[in-house]
Amino acid sequence: TPLDRIRNFSIIAHIDHGKSTLADRLIQRTGGLTDREMSAQVLDNMDIEKERGITIKAQTVRLNYRAKDGLDYELSLMDTPGHVDFAYEVSRSLAACEGALLVVDAAQGVEAQTLANVYQSIEHDHEIVPVINKIDLPAAEPDKVKKEIEDIIGISAEDAVLASAKSGIGIDEVLEAIVTRIPPPKGDREAPLKAMLVDSWYDPYLGVVILVRVVEGVLRKGQEIKFMATGTRHLVDRVGCMRPKIEQLTELAAGEIGFITAQIKEVSQTAVGDTITDAKKPTAEALPGFKTVQPVVFCGLFPVDAADFEKLRDSLYKLRLNDASFSFEAESSAALGFGFRCGFLGLLHLEIIQERLTREYDLDLITTAPSVVYKIQLAHGKGELDLHNPADMPDVMQIASIDEPWIEATIYVPDEYLGSLLKLCQDRRGIQKNLTYVSGRAQITYELPLNEVVFDFYDRLKSISRGYASFDYHQIGYREGDLVKMSIMVNAEPVDALSMIVHRSTAETRGRGMCERLKDLIPRHLFKIPVQAAIGGKVIARETIAAMRKDVTAKCYGGDASRKRKLLDKQKEGKKRMREYGSVQIPQEAFIAALRMG
Ligand code: GTP
Repeated sequence: TPLDRIRNFSIIAHIDHGKSTLADRLIQRTGGLTDREMSAQVLDNMDIEKERGITIKAQTVRLNYRAKDGLDYELSLMDTPGHVDFAYEVSRSLAACEGALLVVDAAQGVEAQTLANVYQSIEHDHEIVPVINKIDLPAAEPDKVKKEIEDIIGISAEDAVLASAKSGIGIDEVLEAIVTRIPPPKGDREAPLKAMLVDSWYDPYLGVVILVRVVEGVLRKGQEIKFMATGTRHLVDRVGCMRPKIEQLTELAAGEIGFITAQIKEVSQTAVGDTITDAKKPTAEALPGFKTVQPVVFCGLFPVDAADFEKLRDSLYKLRLNDASFSFEAESSAALGFGFRCGFLGLLHLEIIQERLTREYDLDLITTAPSVVYKIQLAHGKGELDLHNPADMPDVMQIASIDEPWIEATIYVPDEYLGSLLKLCQDRRGIQKNLTYVSGRAQITYELPLNEVVFDFYDRLKSISRGYASFDYHQIGYREGDLVKMSIMVNAEPVDALSMIVHRSTAETRGRGMCERLKDLIPRHLFKIPVQAAIGGKVIARETIAAMRKDVTAKCYGGDASRKRKLLDKQKEGKKRMREYGSVQIPQEAFIAALRMG
């Protein structure tokens, strides 16, 4: 296909504004699928994605479209993941395109997450076509949304396409806008091969499938290629595109998006953003922007039933086949037994993996408090240490200083919730950078320690704003902090799964909260149980669980034997799910509940 007939674009949208519905409509209109195949939403092809309504892995589709000028065009729609945890993947998908459709819900207006992606798109010099979706809704206010797009994002919305992906309004206009407004790609097909590895995933039949954007040269079946960052060589055995069904081709030339397979066994052998070149006739320079992604949030995952350890390991291996961005290594805890320390790109990523383990692999898990990675400067010039697990914190005497990761957050919130929101950020050691008002909503920029965000910031944000606030962040580096390790002791025994690293200024509040919750969660025993939070040897909070007075069965008056047995059975059942601390038994639920910061 000649370059001037190719258009590569992505769709930027806030969650639920209708990205997948619009994509499906475009596929349907250009004939990629029959109506019956359309009945299931196509682009979001994982169960969890469907249920949670989020796009996790980038997918791409090639559409053939005969435009009003009578010419045939090849449109490649690149789907991008819709969450901040996957910001780097998003940046690579955007780098593979020349333009973007900006989908904004006509009733909801512009939201924070949309902003971050739009700014990225603008940085990539994209032509942005605003699409105001859901105009069929009675609450739609397209003119207000146009003004918001202009005021907030600073691009013209005069020619915004008004659409309803659901009712099929404006779909032809969207297709025409793609052809007439988004520029064709540039690139020399005679130059040595230079292609970007945009994404990869594991397919049980094809092995690892790699999504590529060819920038220069041609990628052919049978060609020997080289990954410039990882340095490995492979033989291309399939070249093709998705419509969205797989179609094999003989080549992909400069300007085109498609996929290849090259007998690669694991996605961990492929790096998103890497440059693919011809092994025999390599390009001189790799594409810019390559980065190795590192997990930023860590937590321990332990099977509730110790017998599930092997199953958990197998399941983690299987999940990693398709997601090289999370890590795991075996860990043992006095409290929780054998499990794994896992690293994730962010909290949502953690939740996705946790949920898949529970749901698809049917595992009952305990998750320890999520923690960020701290950089510890050791005393006496003994170097630096990356701390992933509070349990591994060296003795205070060995520490010169501790640095923690900070983020810059953009929060977008209706006026009436602004006060409580500012208080939340302030309580979390936030530093306010900016506050502006646009169309009845406040846009706030805050610098926050990531440590204060990983616990329950997002849930709190949503609850104080009744779901109206939106939140987006990126990391801005490490800063020194007065951080200490807080241990929790039950009956004078430290419970390592509950220990966490906290800022000295918030330690007491956190400690008290944890003790209070545990007091309610740990059942009474025959003796008094002290529950304490301590820093070093110093107790900063304390609660006492009073001793139990009577046997549980006492209230059965000894009369009804079957009822009594039932109660005892229930107790036995409960026992299985308890962990013993010294002589104190803590139910599993207590861990989970205690870790949920309130
Ligand atoms: P993510 O996958 O989470 O990014 O969401 P999305 O942006 O892909 O949204 P999706 O297409 O899943 O649509 C979200 C909801 O809005 C669904 O319930 C759709 O049926 C609905 N929806 C999408 N387009 C329209 C529209 O034009 N009008 C109306 N009324 N509803 C729509």
